[in-house]
Amino acid sequence: MARTVGIGIQSFEKIRRNNCFYVDKTGFIKEWWENQDDVTLITRPRRFGKTLMMDTLEQFFSIKYKENGELFEGLSIWKEEKPYEQRCFHSGRQAVL
Ligand SMILES: Nc1ncnc2c1ncn2[C@@H]1O[C@H](COP(=O)(O)OP(=O)(O)O)[C@@H](O)[C@H]1O
Ligand SMILES: [Mg+2]
Repeated sequence: MARTVGIGIQSFEKIRRNNCFYVDKTGFIKEWWENQDDVTLITRPRRFGKTLMMDTLEQFFSIKYKENGELFEGLSIWKEEKPYEQRCFHSGRQAVL
């Protein structure tokens, strides 16, 4: 059955738990992490998925959500070597604003 397209959902957890249509952009997590930039500025375009990506990064890195690893199951970042260990390693060590 076709998945529901969530309108205006900016919560990665909600999209995943409700099994909504999601374009897998989790490869960005690795790319962004490996760049080691001090600052990342993405100001445009509108409706590009910036807010949802910020929430996704928080879900991935924040120790607050350490039990939410399964939300990433089956996505691109999940297929990385030892993704779970990587996530645990990074959790709580990065400030997510
Ligand atoms: N990867 C994605 N897969 C599916 N829907 C997405 C994705 N990224 C964003 N959206 C949807 O697109 C809309 C705009 O996303 P949003 O994060 O608010 O964009 P921005 O902050 O860049 O304006 C929202 O309805 C959101 O649920
Ligand atoms: Mg936004």
